[in-house]
Amino acid sequence: MAQLRDTPAWQALEAHRGELEAIELRELFASDPGRAERYTRQVGDLLVDHSKHRITDATIELLVALAEATGVKARRDAMFAGDHINSTEDRAVLHVALRADRSTVIEVDGFDVVPMVHDTLDRMAVLAEQVRSGAWTGFTGQTITDVVNIGIGGSDLGPAMAYLALKSYSLPTLRCHFVSNVDGADLAAVLADADPERTLFVVSSKTFTTIETLTNARSAKTWIVDALGDDAAVARHFVAVSTNAEAVAAFGIDTANMVGFWDWVGGRYSVDSAIGLSLMMAIGPDAFGEFLAGFRIVDDHFRTEPLAANVPVLMGLLGIWYSNFWDASSHAVLPYAQELARFPAYLQQLDMESNGKAVTLDGSPVSTSTGPIVWGEPGTNGQHAFYQLLHQGTHLVPCDMIGFARPNHTLPAHHDLLMANLFAQTEALAFGKTLEEVRSEGVPEHQQLHRVFPGNRPSTTIVADRLTPSVLGQLIALYEHKVFTQGAVWGINSFDQWGVELGKALANRITPELVAADAPELHHDSSTNQLIGWYRARRA
Ligand code: F6P
Repeated sequence: MAQLRDTPAWQALEAHRGELEAIELRELFASDPGRAERYTRQVGDLLVDHSKHRITDATIELLVALAEATGVKARRDAMFAGDHINSTEDRAVLHVALRADRSTVIEVDGFDVVPMVHDTLDRMAVLAEQVRSGAWTGFTGQTITDVVNIGIGGSDLGPAMAYLALKSYSLPTLRCHFVSNVDGADLAAVLADADPERTLFVVSSKTFTTIETLTNARSAKTWIVDALGDDAAVARHFVAVSTNAEAVAAFGIDTANMVGFWDWVGGRYSVDSAIGLSLMMAIGPDAFGEFLAGFRIVDDHFRTEPLAANVPVLMGLLGIWYSNFWDASSHAVLPYAQELARFPAYLQQLDMESNGKAVTLDGSPVSTSTGPIVWGEPGTNGQHAFYQLLHQGTHLVPCDMIGFARPNHTLPAHHDLLMANLFAQTEALAFGKTLEEVRSEGVPEHQQLHRVFPGNRPSTTIVADRLTPSVLGQLIALYEHKVFTQGAVWGINSFDQWGVELGKALANRITPELVAADAPELHHDSSTNQLIGWYRARRA
């Protein structure tokens, strides 16, 4: 098969990029009064403005032609049909089934999975209501005030991000905490502030073999048993979320207190599975249902809209436009909403673990760059930190700005200022400030060149009325399908993550070398040997 970069669709985009090189956003807006409206689309509650991009109608046509030529539609349909599109692990990829309506039929290997998805949601709801209502009591009969989710990666980032995002929808008497790092400082900080009689641990791990999670869970178990003086306390203070019932039982958690999910749910696509249990405990089953309904709105749009009007597809294609044709190696996500502070970190796993790949589906090297470095911080904080580089630096960084018309707090005056900043930033990035404009402001000559803003820096603005559970679900699904589209165009497997294995294996080899009393001889490179020796000499 021809390499992607040698295909006619790719070559046409290369040529088109040359044509657009000298045309700036200032010009594109000046010559087209209808531009904002033409490049803005509504999906569910989200208004997505793509007008401040280095694009014309021809760009969209050529990008859509690339998506057609690379089989995005067929791969999307194969995902929704339950085909084993995660070829290296021979698995279906069906996070869309997690939010399917009860009446939908989605089959994996001839078996409709939707009924068991809803059975699980029902079991989660029972557990969540027991904890929320106080019917679930700890070993000494006290109600639960603190839920501690122990998990890492997809078993942490989703619920942690969503809990923060939806804090204003949460039960005020129930605090949720998220412990992920094997650094004991993470768990210790939560335990320092928690009452063992009133704390429930939710141990979340798809595999239930992840060393960080098991280490934290073991320490939490010791903390409970030491404090409450009885091994039987574990049953009232631990529940598990996993696909691995055997390992859950071996750990000592009663599988009656376990909710499951399935191998066709990737870790980074699992916030809407049982992995969302701690979130459901916080916001309640109804709001969790609204969260799932939000995903569904975008799933339906992604599944049915023509590519040229399909918002996640367009977002994916625009990402490709900048990564592959304008050498942008990173992508910033800048929520103008403090509650979305962890959204960029969540998207880092979603995007970088999915599309950080260098071989195509058949194992041959890719001919183009693939997934970008994803990063970001909430506005306006970032403005006083790294926006300098966005405006005047030498790197091109496409940005997604996310904001809401109405806040989830009642403090006056803040929100207008926040949103004014969002709009101002997209304007400054796109249109900059010319030397003539700087001069006309009477800026002293020695500063003039330093105060020019080149502009022509692309951004997408995504706005909605309010950050609700449904809107959060819509946002997540939008990015899931964006990442999917990009992986399909690049011809890579967005659903495996072999790249995390080597470090894990080496850490497993090094751990005994650090702790063995007889300090075994080391056979690493000289640098690693030296570092291990340094640590051995100093460890307490
Ligand atoms: O190490 C990467 C990873 O496998 C992620 O893909 C996953 O989300 C995370 O570890 C946690 O895995 P688990 O849920 O099995 O503990």
